[in-house]
Amino acid sequence: MSNFPIYRPRRLRANETIRRMVRENNLTPADFILPLFVTYGKNIKNEIKSMPGQFQLSVDNIKKEAREIKALGIPAVILFGIPEHKDEEGTSAFDPHGPVQEAIKAIKDKNPDLMVITDVCMCEYTSHGHCGIIKNKDVDNDATLELLCNEAISHAEAGADMVAPSDMMDGRVGAIRDALDENNFPNIPIMAYSAKYASAFYGPFRDAAESTPKFGDRRSYQMDAGNSDEALREVALDIEEGADIVMVKPALPYLDIIRRIKDQFGYPVAAYNVSGEYSMIKAAEKMGWMDGERAMMESLLSIKRAGADMILTYFAKDAAKVLR
Ligand code: PBG
Repeated sequence: MSNFPIYRPRRLRANETIRRMVRENNLTPADFILPLFVTYGKNIKNEIKSMPGQFQLSVDNIKKEAREIKALGIPAVILFGIPEHKDEEGTSAFDPHGPVQEAIKAIKDKNPDLMVITDVCMCEYTSHGHCGIIKNKDVDNDATLELLCNEAISHAEAGADMVAPSDMMDGRVGAIRDALDENNFPNIPIMAYSAKYASAFYGPFRDAAESTPKFGDRRSYQMDAGNSDEALREVALDIEEGADIVMVKPALPYLDIIRRIKDQFGYPVAAYNVSGEYSMIKAAEKMGWMDGERAMMESLLSIKRAGADMILTYFAKDAAKVLR
């Protein structure tokens, strides 16, 4: 296809007007889901050292935050909890007065149309920091399912609009779907962290959520970075078990996975632009090594171009302001 000089691609790049007209993919604030860290106590706003511009917020401050998020046109948040007490079985995950449960009520009370999604996982609630119950030094899959169901129900009872299991136990989507249905929540969708890789890019998040495993790592349940077909199997299983939205996580190192899943299943695909992806850009910007705003917008656009229908990102507010 070399018909130069008849065809000159640069004609359609000459100025911003023409570039805008031929741009195939665009971002809008409606693409974003903002992760929030909810902690116990009052009037708490602790900046997370490894994630400049992100905070652990107490419920009163989450309320204010919700108003701002709504005003920026961001449709949804996903909540992570930092409980006051942790134990071996992570029982505070289903405390009806836990930080997540209280935050759901507080947000929905004043901003009923801001969608509240909850992360369903045990790692923030267990004293050992693993995503499930430990038996014989390993995370026990089947025993963990019951806890995850209790957590999901507890979020639904508090008024969550959607639940997002991120633990990577086998069979958890089906178990949670059954539990929701049996408890009269047949209309609450499940956003499954289907292809969640064991990743170094979660480093800053574990500071933020105080969920670093005290021993070992998560490689016996999260996916191996070398695998791509396996991601398709994980998605197929989750869809069979009742997932409404499937997720790839992290986003930027796994854009090929996002594209394969979008092409193969045609389901709504979410991508999680994780803490490390955020903090790298913030750090490089601070050092004066890159234009942080452009790097942010380019990253987000690349995730959308790869096939993501929605992007969970700590940049949601910053990017929404650029798009305003
Ligand atoms: C909980 C969970 C994690 C993230 C989202 N849910 C951490 C992990 O699996 O270690 C990571 C989010 C991020 O890095 O931004 N299991």
